[in-house]
Parts: sequence; structure tokens; C-alpha cells
Amino acid sequence: MSRGPKTVAVIGLQWGDEGKGKIVDLLSGRADVVVRYQGGNNAGHTLVVDGRQTVMHLVPSGALHAQAVCVIGGGVVIDPTVLLQEVDELRARGLLAGAGSLLVSQEAHIILPYHKAIDQARERKRGKGMIGTTGRGIGPAYEDKSARTGLRMADLSRPEHFTKRLREILADKNDYLHAMLAEERLDFEAMIRELLDCGRRLAPMIVDTSSFLDAAIRAGKTVLFEGAQGALLDVDHGTYPFVTSSNTGSGAVANGAGVAPRQLRRVVGISKAYTTRVGSGPFPTELNDALGERLRKEGGEYGATTGRPRRCGWFDAMVVRKSVRLSGVDAIALTKLDVLTGIDPLRLCVGYRLAGQAIEGIPALADDYEAVEPVYEELAGWSESITAATSVEQLPAAARRYVARLEELVGVPVGILSTGPGRDQTMMLSDPFDFSS
Ligand code: IMP
Repeated sequence: MSRGPKTVAVIGLQWGDEGKGKIVDLLSGRADVVVRYQGGNNAGHTLVVDGRQTVMHLVPSGALHAQAVCVIGGGVVIDPTVLLQEVDELRARGLLAGAGSLLVSQEAHIILPYHKAIDQARERKRGKGMIGTTGRGIGPAYEDKSARTGLRMADLSRPEHFTKRLREILADKNDYLHAMLAEERLDFEAMIRELLDCGRRLAPMIVDTSSFLDAAIRAGKTVLFEGAQGALLDVDHGTYPFVTSSNTGSGAVANGAGVAPRQLRRVVGISKAYTTRVGSGPFPTELNDALGERLRKEGGEYGATTGRPRRCGWFDAMVVRKSVRLSGVDAIALTKLDVLTGIDPLRLCVGYRLAGQAIEGIPALADDYEAVEPVYEELAGWSESITAATSVEQLPAAARRYVARLEELVGVPVGILSTGPGRDQTMMLSDPFDFSS
């Protein structure tokens, strides 16, 4: 067994919804610790275990495995009411039972009711130019963090201090809501009562998660970092401004979880065998036709958080190649290959043209990206069901060719192949937790 940290990050390589819940759940069986490190309850990680569907928004998907300690790191923005609701639901199912089974960073910022109100009011005001946010207050909470006007879990543990700070901040936020967004002022008394109540219940979970993780990694524990959203929603490297407000690549693990960058050993990047996107913004391979509708129907492509229909299109190697490069992805977990069954021919986007010229990479300006024309390669499809296949050899030749070509285009191998929503509909071709080499 080679020495070094036994850590794996799982991140989305497209616009989110790649199937992180399922893959993280699968890998969590071998993890001592599972960590969320960015985003908030804009995420909706769907898991299907024994035919039962569970959607996790804030608690790491490791919660379905009793041996795993779940950690919510300082880079996550937390809506305390949503977190407690999720904890209650899991506890009612006998999960997250022991003390210490869920730890929350004292440095994590809190999503407050005015963040949600501002998020939603701004979207209404933007009208047609809306970003299509989840309306959960994510952007305004991260704004306050950067503006140094945020409130953190550490503040919530001190009721008197929290009450004083919230009163001051809310006065400003109410002025902004009223004067700039023509919204109703929010009531301080009701807000503080609910938050202090949440604070009392969360208090036993609020700790220095960064030190906890450092000790766990040094002790040789296996740690899984669960990314949220996807690389193209990254606030720096995504399709700005149609992005979320956090960094979503593997680089965010260090800051968001509070571990040194070199403590991350391996990166698994998740990609669908096609592409989807919720919310507005450029999407060159989008299919606005019957085929797009078919992918939506067959793939159950409706947002896990908001229920919105997802936009669907062909696999885009330009997108995934960029994400692989930015996050140093070791292997791909390819999901929903089964959804492509029966579509013939299949197309893969292998390049872009802008104003008739071939271009390298993804344009930084959203208007340019919107005008990009995809260059496609066609491959033969297959018609046999693949949902029961347990090895690559059992896949039709055309499906094997599709996967092989995709690997070639993005430059890394497929290490995990998923052919259905269930835990057992997964081929583990290379185990990310195998650290023997
Ligand atoms: P926000 O994160 O709610 O501010 O939304 C910003 C953009 O990111 C919108 O296009 C959302 O649809 C998208 N988004 C946020 N979280 C997710 C996710 O977990 N999956 C897919 N898209 C997301």
C-alpha cells in the first residue's frame, strides 16, 4: 500500500446534474468521511437505493452509509432551516443517528431569509435576462461573504452577538429590498426567533471541521469530497454570468474543506453520456426538437431542486475536455449511457466554429459562446437494452465504440460506467479508492 492521503474528490464536469448523488453514494460505502465543500441547497443529489429515491440538498450523500462521518465544510453556504429539515428526515429513517455523525464548519456562511428574497426579486427584475437561479439565496449569501457582511455558523453559536449583528445587517438589507427592489421589509423578530432555535439545535454539530479533516487524513482515513454543481457553472471558469457563485472544480476542495491542496490525491469527474443544463446561458449542443424531448423523458431530466425541465443536447467534448484540464481529472464516471439506447446515429461535439472559423476552447464572452456552432462527429447507435450489463464486454459494440471515442476526445479513461439509477447498475472499471499504485 503506497503512502499518502487516501482522498478522492468527485466533481461535475458539465453544468451540474451529472449524477453525483449516485456515484458519491456508491463510493461512500468505502469512505470514512464524506465532505461537502461548496455550494448550498441549490444542489439536489439524487440517490436511488432499494428502489427508493432520496434527494439530498445539503447533507453529504454519504449519510446513507452508517460508517461514514458527514462533514459540511466552510465553503458551503447553509440555510439552517433546510439543513435541519434534511437532518430530521434522515434521522426519522434511522440515519445520521450517532453524535458526531454530522459535523458542520464554524466557518460556513449562513443563508438568511433576505438572501432568498434578494435572489428571487432580482431574478424577477431581470425578466428575460434572468440567470435562472434556483432562488435559494446562494448568490447573495456568497456576495455577503466576499463583502465581509456575512454571518457564519460561529456567529450563530453566540446568541447575543448574533442577535445584535443580525439586527444591524437586516436594517441595511431591508432598505435595499424596499428601495431598490420594491419588496416588503422582512420582520426581525420572527427571523431571529427561528434562527436562534436552529442555532440551539445545530450547536452540537458546529466544530472546526478543517482540523477534524486534517487529523482524519493524517490517520489514514479514506475521505471523499463531494462536489456540487458542475465545472461550467464555476464562477471563474464557467459560462459567466450564467454560473453559480462558488468555485466548482477540484481547486475548491482545498479552500472549501479547509485542507491543503496536496491532501487531495485523486479526482473523479462525472459526466453524462449527453449534456443537460438548467437555467439560462449558452449551450451549443442543445437539441430544441423531438430528440431533446426524448432525452428529457428517457433520462428523467427535471431539476432535483426546482423541478424545472432540463435543457438537453449531445455530448460536448469541448466542455468536458476543459473541465478535465482544470480539475486534473484522473478518470471519468460516465452516467446515463442507457438513455442513448435507440438513438441512431449518435453525435459527439468535437469542435466549435465562430463566425465560420474554427476556434480553440470556449469563448469567455457569453454572447460569443451563444453564437458558436458545434462541429459534430457521427457514430452508430445501438438498440439493445444495456441496463442489465455488468461488464463492458456485455455492451453492444456500438456502445463500446461510443465510450472509447469519448475517452479519446476528453483525454482520460472512463473508470466508472453507469447504466441505470440503481446502485447495482454500475461498472467499477477502476476503483478510485485503490491506492496500491
Ligand atoms: P444559483 O446557484 O441558484 O445561483 O443558480 C445559478 C445557476 O446555476 C442557474 O443556472 C442554476 O440552474 C444553476 N445551478 C445551481 N445549482 C445547480 C445544480 O445543483 N445543478 C444544476 N444546475 C445548478
